Amino acid sequence: MPVTIVVGLQWGVKAKGKITDILSDEHDCVVRYNGGANAGHTVVWGERKFALSLLPTGVLKPHVTSVIGNGVVVYPPRFIEEVGKLRAAGIEVGKNLVLSDKAHVILPYHMEEERLLEAESEGKIGTTGRGIGPCYQDKVGRRFAIRIGDLLNADYLKERLRFIVPHKNKILSAMGGVKEFAVDSLIAEYLEYAEQLRPHVADTVKLLQDRVTAGKSILFEAAQGSLLDVDHGTFPYVTSSNSLPSGIWSGSGVPARKLTRIIGVAKAYTSRVGRGPFPTELDDDLGERIRKIGREYGTVTGRPRRCGWFDAVAVRYTATLADVDEIAFMLLDVLSGFDEVKIATAYELDGQRINDFPSDAATLARCMPVYESMPGWTDDITMVRQPADLPANARKYVDRIAAVIGKPITIVSVGPDRDQTLHLKS
Ligand code: IMO
Ligand code: MG
Repeated sequence: MPVTIVVGLQWGVKAKGKITDILSDEHDCVVRYNGGANAGHTVVWGERKFALSLLPTGVLKPHVTSVIGNGVVVYPPRFIEEVGKLRAAGIEVGKNLVLSDKAHVILPYHMEEERLLEAESEGKIGTTGRGIGPCYQDKVGRRFAIRIGDLLNADYLKERLRFIVPHKNKILSAMGGVKEFAVDSLIAEYLEYAEQLRPHVADTVKLLQDRVTAGKSILFEAAQGSLLDVDHGTFPYVTSSNSLPSGIWSGSGVPARKLTRIIGVAKAYTSRVGRGPFPTELDDDLGERIRKIGREYGTVTGRPRRCGWFDAVAVRYTATLADVDEIAFMLLDVLSGFDEVKIATAYELDGQRINDFPSDAATLARCMPVYESMPGWTDDITMVRQPADLPANARKYVDRIAAVIGKPITIVSVGPDRDQTLHLKS
């Protein structure tokens, strides 16, 4: 039975949600293993549009078991809010949504800490402000962490927060904060959340391992793109978890060697929200045009995304790290109408041509893209339903990118809706 992962190969790929949604039809479980409500996964079903941040995309289908794995960081009010919105939209959410007892909890002081850090220009990362980094810091630091399972044990939670909150208040005040968190009201608030979370909480490691043993199919949904992976991305302008498939083993308990299919998702161009180097960025009318046509504004924060040409150096690097079997190539329709389209196939660094993605952000910031230019296509392709009906130049662009990356492109998306999906033979 398939154990599949859908992983973004750039910084952010808003179209991951579409592919995951299509694939969730053929899987029994959909699993998030990293990140938290910093993700923005958009699913379009005809007139209906769903934006998910924390919950797995599978939650739109009640017959699929959706799992928030131990590697995810969870802000309980957000969990409750997203579930509430889905129910209000007529989507049934119950036992099908399972939350790991080992997932770490985001508390309001995490958000405050992030706000204070991001308010300073030095060291600013341009985060989503969802408390992700500070929560992972506490996880790895061990002393001040709270896990979902801890919420369900009232006495233990009280004991923990009475120890943690005074420390946090001291740290925040030393950072220039003026807000003090009151232990008792925080305890009362989180105990209330705990009761709403309780029906969903389980040992998801055991659950998933049992499903794998029983031959059930599992779909892993990576949050964030591989270039934001904390180990292999453009550090320090990354997120705080492993978005690459390497995060699956630790973040869900499913051994990565159970994976049978690794699908990398890449857009036909590049975008990035937040700070950090971006060699193919177009700081001009062309960039603005991509942003407008592609509606490139952050799903989570609404920030305009920085846009630019396709960076094949970066995607070759992440496609290798993620060991993808195939690539889903998204938003090709956004490039219709450009006279030429460009692909960065190498970089120039200090007068030398390099083919490998540098390991640090400062070096990447000094890289200039070496472009290959191809003629564009004028036709609107959003109505195309067969690969053979793509304009010749659009098809050449797709084929050239597959050749430069060295991986087959098996899916081409020409619009947000499900039927705007072309399947190419690899
Ligand atoms: P999906 O899953 C694009 C970016 C933020 C910032 C950096 C760190 O929709 O692809 P964080 O709040 O995680 O500490 O911010 O990572 N970032 C994303 N960019 N798509 C995302 O998610 C992102 N999640 C975080 O903008 O640069
Ligand atoms: Mg997104």
